[in-house]
Amino acid sequence: MNNIVLCGFMGCGKSTVGKNIARKTGRKYVDMDRYIEQKAGMSVSEIFEKYGEQGFRDMEHEACRELSGERNIVIASGGGAMTFERNAQVFKGSDTIVLLDVPLETIKQRLSGDTTRPLLQRPDKDEVMQRLYEQRMPLYKSAADISVEGQSTPLKTAFAVMDALRLYPSPGKREQQGENKN
Ligand code: S3P
Repeated sequence: MNNIVLCGFMGCGKSTVGKNIARKTGRKYVDMDRYIEQKAGMSVSEIFEKYGEQGFRDMEHEACRELSGERNIVIASGGGAMTFERNAQVFKGSDTIVLLDVPLETIKQRLSGDTTRPLLQRPDKDEVMQRLYEQRMPLYKSAADISVEGQSTPLKTAFAVMDALRLYPSPGKREQQGENKN
């Protein structure tokens, strides 16, 4: 079985949805940013400060290469990762890349008050988000094998991904088993 790589804009729910998919399917979950942080021994913000964005992107590429060597895991990629061809290429063909498609307005609400994303720690945060979102959506779409609407709860979105990939009992069967979809 191949890996599932969740991609999409910051705040689209890659981590929470990924954890739900992993829990429901008994797979291991790996958050790419946490993986990079553990290897570097510092936070993503500290990596940006110390090595600049390019330094972070190189570590991110290394993480993609290493994680693609795993089997049967759920990976929440960083919001920039799948916008780089060299990273998407690492997973293409063997793993399944899933875009969590969430409108910009929802993303803005979810990220208001966030202080963990170095790219957004600036006074013109809203404009930067808008520009990045417009630049990146076409790149995510071309990297992804499938796209799933990600505006509802993490568990519902996780079920939508699992249904699309036929990874879990069908909705009818879940109903019979009394599985809660919320
Ligand atoms: C980034 C998104 C972040 C993290 C880093 C850069 C980006 O991940 O990798 O701050 O370029 O969009 P999340 O999408 O998990 O916030």
